[in-house]
Amino acid sequence: MDVEQLLQRMTLRQKLAQMTQLHPYLFDESKVDELTGPNSDLKLSEDDLYLCGSLLNTFWAETRLNLQQKHMERDPNAIPMLFMQDVIHGHRTIYPIPLGMAATFNPQLLQDCAEMAAKEAAASGIDVCFSPMADLCRDARWGRIAESFGEDPYLNEQMTAATVKGYQAENRTAACVKHYAAYGAAEAGRDYNTVDMSLRTLHEYYLKGYEAAVKAGAKMVMSSFNTLNGIPAAGNRYLMNDVLRNKNSFNGCVVTDYNAVREMIAHGFAENEKECAYHAISCNNDMEMMSSTYLRFGEELVKEGRLSVAQIDECVRRILTLKQELGLFESPNRHTDAKLADELFYCKEHLDICQAAAEESCVLLKNNGILPLQKGGKTIAVVGPFAKSKALIGTWAMAADESQTHTLLDGLQKTSPADRFTFAEGCTMQLGEEDVSGVPLALSAAEQADLIIVALGEAQWDSGEGASRTKLRLSPAQKTLLTQLKKTGKPIVGVIFAGRPLVLTDVIDDFDALLYAWHPGTMGGDAIARLLYGEVCPSGVCPVSFARDEGQFPLYYNHYTTGRPCHGDNDPNAYSSRYKDCSNTPLFPFGYGLSYTQFAVEGFTLSSETMQKGGSITATARVKNVGTVAGKAALQWYVRDRFGSCVRPVLELKGFEKIALAPGEEKSVSFTLTEETLAFYHDDLSLFAEAGDFDLYCGLSSVDTISLPFRLV
Ligand code: GLC
Repeated sequence: MDVEQLLQRMTLRQKLAQMTQLHPYLFDESKVDELTGPNSDLKLSEDDLYLCGSLLNTFWAETRLNLQQKHMERDPNAIPMLFMQDVIHGHRTIYPIPLGMAATFNPQLLQDCAEMAAKEAAASGIDVCFSPMADLCRDARWGRIAESFGEDPYLNEQMTAATVKGYQAENRTAACVKHYAAYGAAEAGRDYNTVDMSLRTLHEYYLKGYEAAVKAGAKMVMSSFNTLNGIPAAGNRYLMNDVLRNKNSFNGCVVTDYNAVREMIAHGFAENEKECAYHAISCNNDMEMMSSTYLRFGEELVKEGRLSVAQIDECVRRILTLKQELGLFESPNRHTDAKLADELFYCKEHLDICQAAAEESCVLLKNNGILPLQKGGKTIAVVGPFAKSKALIGTWAMAADESQTHTLLDGLQKTSPADRFTFAEGCTMQLGEEDVSGVPLALSAAEQADLIIVALGEAQWDSGEGASRTKLRLSPAQKTLLTQLKKTGKPIVGVIFAGRPLVLTDVIDDFDALLYAWHPGTMGGDAIARLLYGEVCPSGVCPVSFARDEGQFPLYYNHYTTGRPCHGDNDPNAYSSRYKDCSNTPLFPFGYGLSYTQFAVEGFTLSSETMQKGGSITATARVKNVGTVAGKAALQWYVRDRFGSCVRPVLELKGFEKIALAPGEEKSVSFTLTEETLAFYHDDLSLFAEAGDFDLYCGLSSVDTISLPFRLV
């Protein structure tokens, strides 16, 4: 297909339709009132519908085949539609939420999971996945932290790039990195709220995840709902043109978020839909998702000379080029294959990778030695609203069959058939449903048991988009259940399911051991059971800081010292940067996670104490498993730049490596630091490293490190 020739043939209206992305329910005859009902304000004719360039969230192969056929019968240019879907952590077979995958510190595992998802998506007729979400998040009040890779820019870069590679392997699907930009910095953690920050902070921390995705070859970007420094992202010329298109040289397609173009009116940025269209097209948002301002006002704007045909052509050229790259012109339905999709859904290979991911994502936060459990001869009360629940697949798993989820109780019975398990739900799961009528039964089960496994946490629908919270503790009903269980005096192993780092300060002492499972996906129950019985050793580490109190947010490890740093909770200086009612420190720090074995980091040396301009130094160390069981260590490399013309963080993650070691085994590791990795954005947005004194840290969390000094000269 010659894109330029096709462009020449298209009318302006056909071009504007190509830039319009709609929801399939508008094509559902049973919902024809959608055109006149709640979506009547789209003011689209039936012809318009069948001219549009792309659809979102069609889910299944049959839907795509049906709608593509209807479209191709009516599109005079025979331009196949593009189909996009929220494939966030799996399509039908679900792996852990992105925050849980971040806890694996294993980009390759995430890439393999994304490739698995792409196979299911492609067979289901999906061309583009609306993922990875690269929104850095330092505030767990924001419900979409669940979809993020946490608080660290370097970890974010590695995981977004891995996701892109997985989705785009063998051109199965295209990745659409989102939400551009800095949507995760919503003030007070309230979804869709204002984002306002210095350009230096934007570039130094928040843009790096998107840039890594673009560098990894992401074919699409989605602009975000939020304002950035007073201007809605979709209408933000600095962000969309100067940075994304020019600085990052991104020449792929940009799609807006859902109705975000029209929301410029609610923002008070555009007075009407015509102005919305003007700003969004001027900012090179090639596709308008679920609003119709381009179609209804584009021609008028061109006639008035406020937009040019050349501008429209640039957007449409990018769309047609994407369709060409994906092979749509040769094969309008690409990899769509309903039979193959059914064979792939929940197949053993896909379940196995989801189980491996769930096993590596769980973080062992506490263990007094009760774990791993020994098999056989015990009565174990499995209590709590998550104990037998299949609602473990997390937010944004819309295509999943929840009935396929392996529950914790299932997993325990399968893993240790020689133990006797009793079950009692105890209380309700969801915020606001504070029913504790099941507590007496739970206590009865507990009294008759040798130990308790209590499964608590945050309901998956209390997490994700629109799910901002001001209180991040267990629900009152769950707290009541736990308090009552504690009074039995029985040993308690806790498993917490959540889409964010909950505030555990007032419950942590009630557990003898605590495994944090995030929302672990289809195979969560089996994975957790194997971890509890030591068939696999916990190796997840915190991708976010766990706050002691909601009042600490925003909370992140790579903070600045301030001019009055607080030197620990016993610092006598009342006039240091601290709270009167809470420690500055997190309850559990970034990079922290326990194992059933112990690792020693020895022989840490640097190739030189001096790094020349343009040069590098290499650190080496040995990691040894000094315990009695096999395990994986998440070795982390941090840098401290002691002085800078902009103040520098107390610590910055610059590298990590997951190392599997048998008992007694040791492995030499090396890490090469270059001047480039020491560069930072200056006040004028120039990017370079400054000569001076640094420290390189090596360790198994952001607080468990050894360090060596070096100088950049
Ligand atoms: C939603 C989300 C975005 C998603 C899109 C399509 O509102 O913000 O992440 O991809 O709409 O469902």
